[in-house]
Amino acid sequence: MRLPVVSRSAICDELPPRPAGFAPGALTDAQGRAYTYLRLSVTDRCDLGCVYCMPPSGEEDHGLRKELLTFEESARLVRVFSEQGIRRVRFTGGEPLVRKDMVDLVGLVRDASPQVESLVMTTNATRLGTLAEPLVRAGLRGVNISIDSLKPERFAAITRGGDLRKVLAGIDAARDAGLTIKLNIVALRGKNDDELYDLVSFAWRIGAIPRFIELMPLGEAANLPADTLMTARDIQAVLLQSHGQNLSRPIERDAHRGPASYLANPSGQRVGFITAMSDEFCGSCNRVRVTARGEVRACLASRRAISLRDVMRGGGDDDDLAWAIHWALSAKARGHDFLNPRETEHQNVGMSLIGG
Ligand code: GTP
Ligand code: 5AD
Ligand code: SF4
Repeated sequence: MRLPVVSRSAICDELPPRPAGFAPGALTDAQGRAYTYLRLSVTDRCDLGCVYCMPPSGEEDHGLRKELLTFEESARLVRVFSEQGIRRVRFTGGEPLVRKDMVDLVGLVRDASPQVESLVMTTNATRLGTLAEPLVRAGLRGVNISIDSLKPERFAAITRGGDLRKVLAGIDAARDAGLTIKLNIVALRGKNDDELYDLVSFAWRIGAIPRFIELMPLGEAANLPADTLMTARDIQAVLLQSHGQNLSRPIERDAHRGPASYLANPSGQRVGFITAMSDEFCGSCNRVRVTARGEVRACLASRRAISLRDVMRGGGDDDDLAWAIHWALSAKARGHDFLNPRETEHQNVGMSLIGG
């Protein structure tokens, strides 16, 4: 049974005082997982409203605007994370490019954290037309672009009014600017399952890697009929039946151990699958999240968080921040509970508040 959504905000745990002997070091957790990848959400707002992601109001947390981390606070946090081994930073939202002056934030983060090797962003691409090139100049290297349909009317329906032409223009600009591109496709039974191969071949044609994401029952997505979810196996069956794409060759996971695993067709063309539902990858999780209001969350599927913003605004020094981050990760669960009918906490976790 599904419980009503009460609040999508985090439950902030109290941070115990920093122990006298605490020395910041590499980030690991009780299961021995090591953290090298930070996802930094910069806003919960989005100029689109995908039906599985955003509530119809287009905003998850109405009080948030006043409480966002400043750019200086964000850059300081990334520096503290990088001093503890974070080497890849992904800017997320909502839609990160609706935050004013994002190009400046990318540049600030690059300058403050030279140890970070890779600055990337997950975006819906509507604003990349003008921003792709300045973002590259500021240090951005890659974008993961969400696109669930190539049919203008269907795209508008899934995104509650989005204009596909803007997204395609954004993709063109990203290519011209030299950004590495992955396309994120959420496969939705009954909504876009007749164009999965078209999306794959579009991605291949533009030199991008297509990746299918299994729908996770977070926030809005928990309200969709259960059979909307298509697993990687379902998607592979559609690709085989509709276009004879036999995706059998397994490819190694990315070096940075992203959540996707890849298969290739006999010609070596790759497709990624993010099997959050059918084949949990939590054992190799290497990522930690900071929400737009500055809470560190150890897991996408949990509302438990520690407010780094409170530590900073309370006058905490860098060691206090490092302690807060270590403490948040120390309580991280072994995995998620998406398929446990008695466990509903993740349903209250709005994807756009956390940044996916
Ligand atoms: P790279 O691997 O760095 O390219 O990025 P990514 O795939 O982690 O980032 P992206 O923002 O493109 O996320 C794609 C999908 O993967 C989104 O639906 C995310 O919610 C999901 N995802 C990313 N990280 C995790 C994770 O740790 N756990 C789960 N369950 N899903 C994740
Ligand atoms: N399940 C799976 N993927 C989701 N996304 C947003 N909500 C969900 C969900 N409930 C995807 C978006 C975007 C990425 C950040 O997460 O399509 O590509
Ligand atoms: Fe990591 Fe949590 Fe995602 Fe599992 S659900 S991979 S533990 S963040």
